[in-house]
Amino acid sequence: IAVDVFDMVVFGATGDLAARKLMPALYRRDLAGQIPPEARIVAVSRRREATRVYVDTVARWLAEFVPETEREDACVERFLARFEHVTLDATGDEGWADLAEVLGRFPERVRAFYLAVGPDLFGAICERIGRHGLVTPQARVVVEKPVGKSGESARVVNDAVGKVFDESQIFRIDHYLGKETVQNLMALRFANALFEPIWNAAHIDHVQITVAETLGVAGRAGYYDTSGALRDMVQNHILQLLCLVAMEPPVSLSADAVRDEKLKVLRSLKPIEAAGVDHLTVRGQYRAGASAGGAVPGYLDELGRADSTTETFVAIKAEVQNWRWAGVPFYLRTGKRLASRVSEIVVSFRPVPHFIFEPSAGPVANNRLVIRLQPDEGVKLWLMIKDPGPGGMRLQHVPLDMSFADAFSDRAPDAYERLLMDVVRGTQTLFMRRDEVDAAWAWVDPILAAWKASSTPPRPYTAGTWGPSAAVALIERDGRTWQDDG
Ligand code: BG6
Repeated sequence: IAVDVFDMVVFGATGDLAARKLMPALYRRDLAGQIPPEARIVAVSRRREATRVYVDTVARWLAEFVPETEREDACVERFLARFEHVTLDATGDEGWADLAEVLGRFPERVRAFYLAVGPDLFGAICERIGRHGLVTPQARVVVEKPVGKSGESARVVNDAVGKVFDESQIFRIDHYLGKETVQNLMALRFANALFEPIWNAAHIDHVQITVAETLGVAGRAGYYDTSGALRDMVQNHILQLLCLVAMEPPVSLSADAVRDEKLKVLRSLKPIEAAGVDHLTVRGQYRAGASAGGAVPGYLDELGRADSTTETFVAIKAEVQNWRWAGVPFYLRTGKRLASRVSEIVVSFRPVPHFIFEPSAGPVANNRLVIRLQPDEGVKLWLMIKDPGPGGMRLQHVPLDMSFADAFSDRAPDAYERLLMDVVRGTQTLFMRRDEVDAAWAWVDPILAAWKASSTPPRPYTAGTWGPSAAVALIERDGRTWQDDG
């Protein structure tokens, strides 16, 4: 279904995000017929270049980041004709009158300002958007993570944006929420009668959330070193996943109904105090090793400094202190340069209450629901069955396996495709509300503070492994193990 006619103003239009994600996503939506003919993309950057030069750059990005099977000459041509480039100084005055003139041609249209720039520029840009009278009733602003580096700095950023835009106009992106498989979590939980009655501490033993990457930080070590895994992945993506697993059923899919429930989860997270931080968290930093078949350098070599204590891996034992989840650990882990690229949620159920089989039948493993977010998206439900054959009653653990690739032939859209169209539609369900961001920082800040005060540096791990052995100990102390096998 086509969206309303819009002007999408992209700040940071020559940056990496625009190249890899935004322009390919908009192109694909155009190819799908969702973008009306009149819609425009206004690319804003400091570069002094004519629109036709900028458009050549976009054409090169499409050639690089959109598979050949999806590149149709007629559509590429139509897409490139949508662009207008404006040279503008985000923190000065130059170019703003030009932008006002371009947008002023269609004042009634949906107008989305996409700030694909660092958060230190959000305030300055919004202030100028306001001062130049560019905020119309149909305007919205999209901000990328990280929103701040702590609760305090997030407040400063959110205040600055909030001075110009109403909360209903602010779209804080967490691209994990746009992933098909993440949205499927809601379908799985709330469109099936099967799970909800047992979705609680009485039946669930623990939950694991893993977001493992094989990539290192090469190319973005400068940014990454000021962030680290806790800020880069846990404060946003992983806590959002935790919320979707743990939240109460919202009354509807309306933005506030869903966000109210997520907020309650964030506020129920048990604080990790300084005294518990060594017991409940593990941070690591990769050393040289092998990944994807080749030798790779360590984090400090990539950074070009020997004294960084930034973590590239983190494992945490979290708890949601409420009626539904009391006593159920949520084990979280994420890292760069791990053994394989896999994001998944494992819900491990409690053991059966009574064993009726002969010991020779073998042990009964717990039922597990594994939601694989990427790659090989799918859902597996591990069950015990009788091993077929005449050997008597022998039990086996096997998965009921639903793979998205096998079940559906359509390409799953990239998260940004969905999210950009939701911005145009004005639908905020998959975007973070300000109080969610604050609540997430309120849980993360004390961990950061405790690490800072601690004299123990991050534990080294070899690139291409599953992280420091202390992360294994974190869960094995509780008599459980990480599930690396799906
Ligand atoms: C980003 C982080 O938000 O998410 C990156 O800044 C990380 O460090 C990326 O690599 C992971 O996203 P995806 O979609 O590849 O899982």
